[in-house]
Amino acid sequence: MTRIFDEDVSNSFGTRAIHAGQRPDLLSGAIMTPIYTTSTYVQDALGENKGYEYARGKNPTREALERNVATLEGGVHGFAFSSGMGCLDSIMKLFKAGDHIVCGENVYGGTFRLFDRILTNFGLTFTFVDTRDSQKLADACGPKTKAILVETPTNPLMRLTDLSAAGEIARQNNALFIVDNTFATPFFQLPFEHGADIIYHSTTKYLNGHSDMIGGIAIVRDDAIAEQLQFIQNASGAVPGPFDSWLALRGTKTLHLRMPRHDANGRSIASWLSEKMGPEKVIYPGLESHPQHELAKRQMRGFGGMISVDLGTKARAAEVLGKVRIFSLAESLGGVESLISHPASMTHASVPPDRRAYLGITEGLVRLSCGVEDIEDLMADVEQAFA
Ligand SMILES: Cc1ncc(COP(=O)(O)O)c(C=O)c1O
Repeated sequence: MTRIFDEDVSNSFGTRAIHAGQRPDLLSGAIMTPIYTTSTYVQDALGENKGYEYARGKNPTREALERNVATLEGGVHGFAFSSGMGCLDSIMKLFKAGDHIVCGENVYGGTFRLFDRILTNFGLTFTFVDTRDSQKLADACGPKTKAILVETPTNPLMRLTDLSAAGEIARQNNALFIVDNTFATPFFQLPFEHGADIIYHSTTKYLNGHSDMIGGIAIVRDDAIAEQLQFIQNASGAVPGPFDSWLALRGTKTLHLRMPRHDANGRSIASWLSEKMGPEKVIYPGLESHPQHELAKRQMRGFGGMISVDLGTKARAAEVLGKVRIFSLAESLGGVESLISHPASMTHASVPPDRRAYLGITEGLVRLSCGVEDIEDLMADVEQAFA
């Protein structure tokens, strides 16, 4: 089971981002963690090995990533997976038929699809609620509730959950509190400080930050949950390869440099859009017009680079998507390059149309992932595309 190095914990965020979980290679002194491309490890004698037997169970490159992100989140154990969805699927194997999970209603479309179309077939039951309202969250819990799962801010409507309130409700119901921290990252939000039991990420996004791999990671503090997750990680086997682990690890080294720039670019673009189009059309937690701006200031250290804009109709959305030059029309988010997408037909196409309409994921909604390019170029692009 991968456990952080205790001596890493006392360092500040940037130092942890660069060094945590990594030590110079014992063979050569290589400063960068080697990419251990091996499926198995030679054993010294029957029953004697160096702590590694088979690479589905353990890989040193993967372990470095697991320790690194666990340390950044203020956790103790990390478990890396082959994708964010593979990670969530493995987390859900902590539960059994008959268990009830309360989930935020505006989660990533793939999360809803996994729960609604696959895991219900295995006897898990779900209630999807508007977790902006803590009372609704509390009311949805019952005797069979084993977990509360939230994404905050949500994809793509940038809705927030009061993490401390949700953590308290989970505790009162003896349920695990699971938080998808993909959008905020540990640089801006630390769910363990608000009572989270499990934090997970699509490392594909900000943690990697360079749009060159797919991955996921779960972080926990509790040894007993960690034991179970480690068993599932090895038994189900949705593990990342060493090269993808290394790419994610290289990405986290600059997380503390990239996030302030995503945030600064996001704030500038959101302000301009809000002035031009009207605050009711622009959804960004850093805007004073965001209904949960005060909560955002309370539980986040920054607001990041994700902005959603309602252009009214699909035709107007298509027009903007066709005009952008530096923003690229693509799914995903959190990379150094700016992306723009149409959630209704892309990331949230798997959510049934009536549900999308109920949630407010309209045909006119576009989502911007502001990268770290120079702001004057991004502004010029946004100005000509949204003019
Ligand atoms: C918030 C959030 N969680 C989880 C996922 C799933 O991650 P992956 O695409 O790495 O499987 C995504 C993907 O977009 C996401 O946006």
